[in-house]
Amino acid sequence: MATSFIPLLLLTLLLAGFSPSLAQTCLSDTFSGNRFYSNCNTLLYLGAKVHWTYHPSNATIDVAYRAPISSNGWVAWALNPTGSGMIGAQALFAFSGSGSAVSVYATAISSYTPDVKDGNLSFKVYSKSGELSNGVMTIFATLALPQNRTTVNQVWQAGPLSNGVPAQHSTTGDNIKSSGSIDLLSGSVSGDTSNSRQRRKNTHGVLNAVSWGILMPVGAIMARYMKVFADPAWFYLHVACQLSAYIIGVAGWGTGLKLGSESSGITYHGHRNIGIALFCLATLQIFALLLRPKKDNKYRFYWNIYHHSVGYCVIVLSVINIFKGFDILIPGDGWKTAYIIIIATLGGIALILEVVTWIIVLKRKDREEKSHHGTNGFNGYEARQQSRV
Ligand SMILES: *[C@@H]1O[C@H](CO)[C@@H](O)[C@H](O)[C@H]1NC(C)=O
Ligand SMILES: *[C@@H]1O[C@H](CO)[C@@H](O)[C@H](O)[C@H]1NC(C)=O
Ligand SMILES: *[C@@H]1O[C@H](CO)[C@@H](O)[C@H](O)[C@H]1NC(C)=O
Repeated sequence: MATSFIPLLLLTLLLAGFSPSLAQTCLSDTFSGNRFYSNCNTLLYLGAKVHWTYHPSNATIDVAYRAPISSNGWVAWALNPTGSGMIGAQALFAFSGSGSAVSVYATAISSYTPDVKDGNLSFKVYSKSGELSNGVMTIFATLALPQNRTTVNQVWQAGPLSNGVPAQHSTTGDNIKSSGSIDLLSGSVSGDTSNSRQRRKNTHGVLNAVSWGILMPVGAIMARYMKVFADPAWFYLHVACQLSAYIIGVAGWGTGLKLGSESSGITYHGHRNIGIALFCLATLQIFALLLRPKKDNKYRFYWNIYHHSVGYCVIVLSVINIFKGFDILIPGDGWKTAYIIIIATLGGIALILEVVTWIIVLKRKDREEKSHHGTNGFNGYEARQQSRV
């Protein structure tokens, strides 16, 4: 079916990946008070830059984080010694209150709705201050590196103020991508964990949408509607389609388990449980194929009922889980719309084929009845040959 090539094409494009190249615009930055930093890096999101000098003798860094700030907003930069995202981040928030004075708060974040106030971090902060100029905020700080590590995860963020204190940042777009590791010795922010993680999430989404969400329904459509036109070719096409769907689907399922095991703190219970149920049901279908009774066996009737109900159940659960996945991944409206169009098209094709099949089956019955009365000397077989055309 032509429709199955579109997602495969998308899959290829996505897996080919993209590698954004960034001009090192941080090199031209200057700082007040004769501050100078030996390293800098332009971060991928939110227009942010980080400058630092690492002192191996006392395992400290002097750091300057610079990012645009909205007129009634805040910016924050954090190291996360225990994870890669927001939970566990040891953050420095900077914002300017009603006057021009800049406040810098040190906040250890332990929930998705943190209470931002100045406190202690899990490592020592020797000094911190902020400077606002022309809509650009700079946070200056001197920190003891957590566990003296020189590769750490950093998180940076920006959001609005509410009643003079930082309120929740946007949870879409660049605001959920702004984290990654930073190597303080080499100066690189390569091996950006959030970026590769985002890519793996997309791979997970595409593999599962293609297999469970598209190939499986296509295979079911083949089984139900090609029987009339192409017997026994439908059977081999159905098996080939569902087997490839199963193989790609299990790969996608595995990436999901891996992503789940890595995200400490958040579990999408519904999505996870449906995913596990889907894997079990689909595996059952594969094994049931081996136990399929012969056509004239009296148990074949019950096997068919079982096979159809589990099969339809898998398709319904798959589509539900793909939409749950869209809500988690938030991949941009285009992907969701594309999937809705594909699944609606498949539904439309199924509906048309259902009608056509009924017409053919009824006509055939009619003809077979006629041939039964021996009008033209047709036997049932010839009638069937005719109705193929
Ligand atoms: C970290 O480095 C400092 C200075 O080099 C040293 O005194 C301290 O023992 C180190 N701590 C750890 C946990 O390695
Ligand atoms: C750490 O050592 C450097 C020199 O290597 C020094 O300039 C800096 O002030 C020291 N930082 C702290 C917090 O002691
Ligand atoms: C921060 O740490 C200092 C000394 O380690 C302590 O005196 C102070 O009470 C702590 N502040 C908070 C808010 O926990």
